[in-house]
Amino acid sequence: MRIPAADLRAQHDALRDDLRAAFDRVVDASSFIHGPEVEAFECEYAALCEVPHTVAVSNGTEALAMALRALEVGAGDLVAVPAFTFVATAEAVCHVGARPLFVDIDPMTFTIDPEALRRALRQHTVRAVIPVHLYGQPAAMDDIAAVARDGGAEVVEDAAQAHGARYRGRRVGGLGRLACFSFYPSKNLGGLGDGGAVTTHDAELAARLRLLRDHGQTAKYTHGLIGYNARLDGLQAAFLRVKLPHLDGWNARRQALAAAYRRGLAGLPGIGLSEPAADREHVHHLFVIRCARRDALQAHLHANGIASGVHYPLPLHLQPAFAPLHHQAGDFPVAEAAAREVLALPLYPELTDDAVARVCGAIRAWTQESVA
Ligand SMILES: Cc1ncc(COP(=O)(O)O)c(C=O)c1O
Repeated sequence: MRIPAADLRAQHDALRDDLRAAFDRVVDASSFIHGPEVEAFECEYAALCEVPHTVAVSNGTEALAMALRALEVGAGDLVAVPAFTFVATAEAVCHVGARPLFVDIDPMTFTIDPEALRRALRQHTVRAVIPVHLYGQPAAMDDIAAVARDGGAEVVEDAAQAHGARYRGRRVGGLGRLACFSFYPSKNLGGLGDGGAVTTHDAELAARLRLLRDHGQTAKYTHGLIGYNARLDGLQAAFLRVKLPHLDGWNARRQALAAAYRRGLAGLPGIGLSEPAADREHVHHLFVIRCARRDALQAHLHANGIASGVHYPLPLHLQPAFAPLHHQAGDFPVAEAAAREVLALPLYPELTDDAVARVCGAIRAWTQESVA
């Protein structure tokens, strides 16, 4: 039996009746754009994140761009982002006309390195910093906040991979001025299509975001500012409401599976494991190991019917799209090493303990063959 990297079918099979009922509710009400499902989801998601405001939007990339627009970040501004993340973090910076300032990451957590950020902010004035809670582990938010405060920069969380995670007891989503989420189907909380949200403690920013996402409409056909069409569909909100009550349970299962991987892989030569930082609750969107011979290991797993993923094979500063920023190999060595070595093993709440044991066995066999 093949073990996939993720299995959305298993999740949806278990929820099919509830998803059908949600679909019927939306069709019966014909409230496809905004409406009661979106409003209810916003309240429920705000409660999960322990913040007063959630503004649902069309996807995570747009959530990031909207957050920057709400803060009036734009042309001529610099925004600090980690060099190792999904492209959308930096793409959103470009969408508002600003320029990403790449910063290296911490080798243990894969999140932006506060000391590297401090060095970068000594040389540059940035309007905002976007720490990414990569793979489901919150970034070092207190240290980042202190550096940002000293540099006069706002902090916008990219929490697209970390729904429900905690930093020093507090949920992500309320750790910066604004926080951005993606509900892409494979995320820890995913819709049946695209979706996203911005969360915040700040009522004024939330109000501005509500205008921005809907053509700047202050009243029907009255437009207070130039906005966008960046709304969440009623259907997606209804589906997300079905899934939201399961999120903490799914995350707990992800954590248990990650612990099983750590036990199963402990001490294997050439396999790097990083413990989650003690002050953070990692929700394991992905379970990632490091291996210098990563591509060979991935090929071995593939040959044994085990899928795995590389998130991400090229750091942002070396992406062709960012060539105009004139970076070169060696600029962000920790990010570059991560891109060469990371491998995400199968992980999703419905994954069985036996499957984890099989993956660990296949990796153990490979390490023994490689040493022999
Ligand atoms: C770290 C990160 N930021 C932003 C995004 C963008 O989200 P979306 O795909 O919903 O636009 C994603 C996910 O795809 C992501 O993983």
